[in-house]
Amino acid sequence: MEDKITIDFLGKDKKSVYEQLNQQLEALIAPDQDLIASLGNTAALLNEVLRPLWVGFYIVKNEKLVLGPFQGPIACVHIAFGKGVCGKAWETKQPQLVPNVHEFQGHIACSSLSNSEIVVPIFNAAGDVVMVLDIDSENFAQFDEEDQQGLEQLAAIISKYYFN
Ligand code: SME
Repeated sequence: MEDKITIDFLGKDKKSVYEQLNQQLEALIAPDQDLIASLGNTAALLNEVLRPLWVGFYIVKNEKLVLGPFQGPIACVHIAFGKGVCGKAWETKQPQLVPNVHEFQGHIACSSLSNSEIVVPIFNAAGDVVMVLDIDSENFAQFDEEDQQGLEQLAAIISKYYFN
């Protein structure tokens, strides 16, 4: 990866931030690059731009979600189908926008500092969930529909490059 991240995100509205972030992602990852390397760089890019408490991937492996590349504090290694916000996104195949994790039944608190989160599923060509992207924040209601849209586009890029 020779490209330096040079996007100026300051003063930009959220939609433009995600447009630029996703453009940057297209330049950063490539289908012939190792998937784990690309997920690592994707987590780093998201961390740089969004500055969340935690950002990373949980990958479907042996009928569980297993911790993948991430940035932030140490996290839970395994999450079962349907459990927590990540497991719910896997089960329902729907993004989960959680403004207050303390009100989400079954939330898995990897960090006591987390107050809100968003989880977006990533699909293969058959429509199965192959991993989820999880972003946690110390702020309540940090994420909204614009984040969801931007992150669904990001998920679609990863699907297109690696799971089509
Ligand atoms: N918040 C997640 C667990 C993963 S960690 O927060 C990194 C959940 O309830 O699914």
